[in-house]
Amino acid sequence: MNPTLETLILPAGEAAASAAARILAAGGLVAFPTETVYGLGADAANPAAIARLYQAKGRPAFNPLIAHVTDLSAARQIARFDTAAEKLAATFWPGPLTLVLPKAESCIVADLATAGLDTVAVRVPAHPVARDILRAFGGPVVAPSANLSGHVSPTTAAHVESDLAGLIDLIVDGGPVEVGVESTIVGCFEQPMLLRPGGVPREDIERVLGRALAQPPQEVEGNSAQPLAPGMLASHYAPRTRVRLNADSVAPGEALLAFGLHRLHGEADAVAMMNLSANGDLAEAAANLFGYLRALDARGANAIAVMPIPNEGLGEAINDRLRRAAVERA
Ligand code: TXA
Ligand code: MG
Repeated sequence: MNPTLETLILPAGEAAASAAARILAAGGLVAFPTETVYGLGADAANPAAIARLYQAKGRPAFNPLIAHVTDLSAARQIARFDTAAEKLAATFWPGPLTLVLPKAESCIVADLATAGLDTVAVRVPAHPVARDILRAFGGPVVAPSANLSGHVSPTTAAHVESDLAGLIDLIVDGGPVEVGVESTIVGCFEQPMLLRPGGVPREDIERVLGRALAQPPQEVEGNSAQPLAPGMLASHYAPRTRVRLNADSVAPGEALLAFGLHRLHGEADAVAMMNLSANGDLAEAAANLFGYLRALDARGANAIAVMPIPNEGLGEAINDRLRRAAVERA
């Protein structure tokens, strides 16, 4: 889509929240911070607004969206909660957890936003700016990450601007986000299932449920079939530069995405080097991940070599996003 709109950028605050609510009600598109990543919001009940949203992102239309609401009672208007869902909502909302649940009778989320599924993804975000906007608007807001489809998710307003300026109506700048990876998605099916690792570690969810989360059936690359979490295209989080995982050395011409204090052979000659967390802190690494991938992607290296990241806690979400970034694209 050609950039043709005048995109307004406002600092977070009362004026921004009411402008956001007004624009959403008129069918417009508003980017705003959540604790995980910046989202691109549209009125969940307005199919025309949602169509514009898909268009602005260049996103395949079979990819359903998360409905964001202010609290559990608003969530109950759109989805049915079983015991597991009740427990998870009580423990982790507001926060970086999305639940996929059967649609309620009274669900006003447009079919276009749920890709015609009989389930709906719901989340109560914790970020005060997101909450102010939801409260001012007064209804569910669907919001994918505020990046062009296939790009890495935005963790600052500047990232949003570089992808979507001219394509959306408003960007509310609330500074850099805290968590840095998207919400964890749990499907509350017969067996609760981890559809996407994210900001709430699997271990914390399993502790609350008192059972292990089921694994979704292996996704198929090429997306011929509609996958269970259809947004999980194999190459969803993609810098333009090739990404090489589990690097134990740096080759000539490569940039390095480091983790921890361990030094690699060839590191001194790296085109660029950024350390996700010198202390080996996974929360710090998650918060830095997408910004550092963007920054290294801009350095013209022939690959980004990534050091191994432990696969526990938030490391599971980090490794998931890195694997997607590393998928070879045509
Ligand atoms: O942290 C987040 O979740 C961010 C912020 C903005 O809230 N949003 C986000 O949205 O990551 P998005 O659209 O980039 O990812 C939504 C994911 C996709 O993988 C999509 O397929 C899945 O949620 N999803 C949505 N509805 C679903 C459903 N009914 N069944 C299964 N998966 C669903
Ligand atoms: Mg996304």
